[in-house]
Amino acid sequence: MIDDACQFLRERWGDWCPEVGIVLGSGIQLSGDDFREVDRVPCRDIPGLPVPSVEGHAGEWAAYDHGDLPVLLLGGRVHLYEGHSVEAVTTGMEILAGLGCGKVILTNAAGGIRPGWQPGEVVMIRGHLDFQLQGMITPGGSGDVFDPLWQERIQIRSRRDDGSELAEGVYAGLPGPTYETPAEVQMLRKLGADLVGMSTIQEARKAQSLRMDAVAFSLVTNAAAGTGDSEELNHEEVLQAGRDSRDRVLQVVRRALACHAADAES
Ligand code: HPA
Repeated sequence: MIDDACQFLRERWGDWCPEVGIVLGSGIQLSGDDFREVDRVPCRDIPGLPVPSVEGHAGEWAAYDHGDLPVLLLGGRVHLYEGHSVEAVTTGMEILAGLGCGKVILTNAAGGIRPGWQPGEVVMIRGHLDFQLQGMITPGGSGDVFDPLWQERIQIRSRRDDGSELAEGVYAGLPGPTYETPAEVQMLRKLGADLVGMSTIQEARKAQSLRMDAVAFSLVTNAAAGTGDSEELNHEEVLQAGRDSRDRVLQVVRRALACHAADAES
């Protein structure tokens, strides 16, 4: 199936081949004049790719040239909590690797556990706690899954451009689909989690096992359950916060792309 998908895309794209794959979290979209659209492909047309179940969002992959850099936006992320298997959730990573793409940028919406982080904070994920406990049979998937060199370059650029480093933290991935209880959030905090969400980990692990370099960023859309003012978390608020802070995530994605280019040149 992966071979069929790669063949389908190669036939469609000819010489065009993505160097960086991007997966964006809830409510976050890629936009801007610096992304020149090359193609859009509905997920349902790509052999073997699962189609997201969220109403009204069939999902599509969008190919862009960002300057000279070919990037592929993998829209239509599917989640374990929709009933998908690890294989289904990570099919996009397999296809990217099959196309010869070597780098992935993952983003997500997350609850902030670390005190002081407000909604809108963008955090680079340094490490993760896997409470999705799906296991991965793929060989080669141990150790930290994010690329330290790429992360370092992003921090150097953040210091230069903003005068400060990007926040960093540990992401706890839970199965969902419900938000955590306040007691669960306290447990996660004691275990060292700074963020909590329901995606990203399986994709990052798969990318690592396929020898792709990955970096990941969380957009804090809400204080994790029991740590903020609101009584109950609500998916619509999370989506709205994602839309409101989209530009901040895109700024970090652009920075990661620029650092990829620097990486490729050096
Ligand atoms: N918990 C889990 N996933 C999330 C949250 C949260 O608080 N916010 C956005 N995604």
